[in-house]
Amino acid sequence: MTRLFGKSAFITGAAQGIGFELAKAYVAEGAKVALADIDQKKVRKAALELGDTAFAVELDVRDQESINLAVEQAIDEMGCIDILINNAALFTAAPITDIDRDDYLNVFSVNVSGVLFTMQAVARHMIGRGNGGKIINMASQAGRRGEPLVAVYCASKAAVISLTQSAGLNLIKYGINVNAIAPGVVDGVHWDGVDAAFSQLEGLPLGQKKKTVGAAVPFGRMGKPSDLIGMAVFLATSEADYIVAQTFGVDGGNWMS
Ligand SMILES: NC(=O)c1ccc[n+]([C@@H]2O[C@H](COP(=O)([O-])OP(=O)(O)OC[C@H]3O[C@@H](n4cnc5c(N)ncnc54)[C@H](O)[C@@H]3O)[C@@H](O)[C@H]2O)c1
Repeated sequence: MTRLFGKSAFITGAAQGIGFELAKAYVAEGAKVALADIDQKKVRKAALELGDTAFAVELDVRDQESINLAVEQAIDEMGCIDILINNAALFTAAPITDIDRDDYLNVFSVNVSGVLFTMQAVARHMIGRGNGGKIINMASQAGRRGEPLVAVYCASKAAVISLTQSAGLNLIKYGINVNAIAPGVVDGVHWDGVDAAFSQLEGLPLGQKKKTVGAAVPFGRMGKPSDLIGMAVFLATSEADYIVAQTFGVDGGNWMS
């Protein structure tokens, strides 16, 4: 269980959910991990749980100065960054006629600008170091097609898939592989929020939306954060060296590409 031994990883949105699960898996595979998140209290607790090879970094991906500082801090602490997982994101739901401009800007600032400028900061470091690297962006099945009440989130994840393609093509000449993972429906705090939003928008009892989407997954249940580990570890290893600019569905069969 040491496929990432000697590697250093920077994971955004790692205080909980998928980001935390991937940080735990990377530590178990022998990597040093910087857990970066806007929720300081939670991310410190999360890093402590993972032991000596993990540490917490304060990061607001909406803010360039915060990105630069967090990346510098991670490099100071670990010596370098070999792997970036751009995982931090926000969800929002509303019919087109009710979308709020500030909400739209905030979600795009985290889900799109956050991914782009964290990727830029880490890619500059990787290029300067001359040793290649792996960048994994967390997209979503929501980026593959629109949904009537989820326009902003869907569009933000479509942008992540597109940024992954352009960055993947631009950075492979430096030995930097940029790829993305598109999870389906993964149970946790994020989906509690999705369920609550749909409960309000569609007048459903709390928990109903989760039941419906879980039952519709061909695999037979909602995903768990641990379902993402296999792909996230694989894409970070040299076994994935020839994989460039792709987005992989890990969704129990929800989407066929
Ligand atoms: N859970 C799902 O069903 C699902 C499905 C498809 C894709 N995804 C994607 O997977 C990723 C992780 O999802 P999750 O379910 O673990 O989400 P989550 O909401 O549980 O965790 C997101 C983390 O991002 C952090 N964050 C939010 N804003 C930030 C900011 N400005 N700067 C830094 N950190 C910030 C939060 O504090 C939180 O710890 C996201 O990109 C999400 O869009 C999730």
